[in-house]
Amino acid sequence: MLINRFILLFGIVQMLAHHAFCQQMPITPHPSSYELQGGFIEIDSSWGIASGDGVEVETVEVFNDFIQNLYGFQLGVSDSNSSKKVRLIKEESLEEGNYNLSAKDGEIKITGSESGLLYGLFSLLQLMQEKDGKLLIPALEIEDKPEFQYRGLMIDVVRHFRSLDQMKKVVDLMAYFKLNRLHWHLTDDQGWRLEIKKYPELTEISAWRDSTIVGPYSKPFVYDGKRHGGYYTQEEARELVAYAAKRHITVIPEIELPGHSSAVLAAYPEFGSFPMENGKPQKGSIPAFDKNNKPLNNQISDAVPGYWGVHYNIFGPKEETFQFLEDVLTEVMDIFPSEFIHIGGDEVPKDHWKTSPIAQKVIEREGLADEHELQSYFITRIEKFLNENGRNLIGWDEILEGGLAPNATVMSWRGEEGGIAAAKMGHNVIMTPNSHLYFDHAQGGKSTEPLNFCCYLPLEKVYNYSPRPESLTAEQQKYILGVQANLWTEYIPSDTKMEYMIFPRLLALSEIAWLGKERKDYERFAQVSLPIRLYELERLGIHFRIPEAKVSMEEASGGRQTVAMRVPVKGSKIFYTIDGQRADQTATLYEGPFTLPYYLTGSQSTLLNYIVVTPENRVSAMYSMELTADGPKKIEKD
Ligand code: ACM
Repeated sequence: MLINRFILLFGIVQMLAHHAFCQQMPITPHPSSYELQGGFIEIDSSWGIASGDGVEVETVEVFNDFIQNLYGFQLGVSDSNSSKKVRLIKEESLEEGNYNLSAKDGEIKITGSESGLLYGLFSLLQLMQEKDGKLLIPALEIEDKPEFQYRGLMIDVVRHFRSLDQMKKVVDLMAYFKLNRLHWHLTDDQGWRLEIKKYPELTEISAWRDSTIVGPYSKPFVYDGKRHGGYYTQEEARELVAYAAKRHITVIPEIELPGHSSAVLAAYPEFGSFPMENGKPQKGSIPAFDKNNKPLNNQISDAVPGYWGVHYNIFGPKEETFQFLEDVLTEVMDIFPSEFIHIGGDEVPKDHWKTSPIAQKVIEREGLADEHELQSYFITRIEKFLNENGRNLIGWDEILEGGLAPNATVMSWRGEEGGIAAAKMGHNVIMTPNSHLYFDHAQGGKSTEPLNFCCYLPLEKVYNYSPRPESLTAEQQKYILGVQANLWTEYIPSDTKMEYMIFPRLLALSEIAWLGKERKDYERFAQVSLPIRLYELERLGIHFRIPEAKVSMEEASGGRQTVAMRVPVKGSKIFYTIDGQRADQTATLYEGPFTLPYYLTGSQSTLLNYIVVTPENRVSAMYSMELTADGPKKIEKD
């Protein structure tokens, strides 16, 4: 009797899950407010889009590219008399991102700011469900707006270069999930990735390294012996800026200074910290040992380094260096209309400045207390130049050390402390703590994940991040402009691995950025929208990480336990074993909750191994859970 009731209950849960699409809100990010009205509107290629005054044609084009890729048709431009139409009405008074969507009485209407109209169209797309060869949209009304004005993703194209096409693919998906800032990390120790016409050696020399370490970061390093590099011409960079702008994404370039500059100094050593002699840093001017009397493995070199980490060779605070940086930034500002220019500022070892006669002279001349104040002097000069050109500076949180430049915005990456300190000082802040938003960290247990930087950052941990620290007052909270995830690419050499590390965590970022803490709900996200979005991403050719299935246990008749598994991607299959064998596609197909053949009691447990196979036959790593009398438990320590 009990087991029957249990199976019935599971049946209902399954049925509800099956109909979740009809009855629950599948849009990612979840809208701020909405009301389902009951019933559906059927949509097909006979529908058109009627754009009201001032609506940009690109908005419709961008939407049509998506619907074409997902459902194989586009919506034509409808004359306003046609009955089947999506009406777009531009409302200048609505702020960035805001839109209202009404789908009822056979008509669909979206009102919004320009970005709001695109977001409304994407929401419409995400509401479509296929049923008996038809596309249906639930009748509803949505009023939607973002919580944060800055909703960002950083891509490092230095450690591994990515093609312009791949960047565009990322931009498309950022827009689809209502993100609006692409922070493009263009320069670092291991390469320089942007054409600068005045300094051709930046792309002839600094853009290329002869060899790159492979495998984990442990000495002795193993090198691949392959030349790696590349750069974007100014024309290509402008193309990405325009492509992103059509999708309401601003591209923020990052030019690292005064550290992470070894690649520049390989080509232009004269901008380093040491006196020059015959085109090279003067012999004997460079310390051979560091402050702990350890040999410096990071000596001045004229090669672009092929290993990671924090490098000692940094810009020198010379007038020639400032002139070089201003020249570079002048060309950068001409390409990128972004209000913000990111100048790095992180991880600047001061060792060479301590021993550099040039740096010491500036410290004395400017009456600075130490090398930290010298960094602040360096950043403040650059900020002044940017401000004079109508731009604002963003830097990583180390720019707080030695005194923050007067108008700087702080990107808080070493936790939230830097951001909290900056907000208390009345500076704008972007939260991007490495504890929650570093997408180069592992998404699952060690045995299931490819090589990664470190640590354990599963989807749920990302989702549960809130960018407004409680220690700030309501007034100080206003300085938190938004939130960003970062993809450093030391261990990400390919497009497929890039997509694997970004997705599905980008969907969690999307909800963090769009929804306030109170309106987020991980269970709703994981159960309702995630499986559908992943199904779509697969159709769009994205190589996302296949998440684990949610496993739950209930006590059934006679005390035996029943196990239920929830598929993480719509239409996927689960194959499992409970006898300790590895799971593959010959294992048992999960067709619904199953009862264990024995009763688990006390400390007894059994191993559940399973794989998930997506509709396009992508196979997950093998995931494992320990089934115990107290319920399912994770096995791996992360
Ligand atoms: C950083 O991760 N070094 C900003």
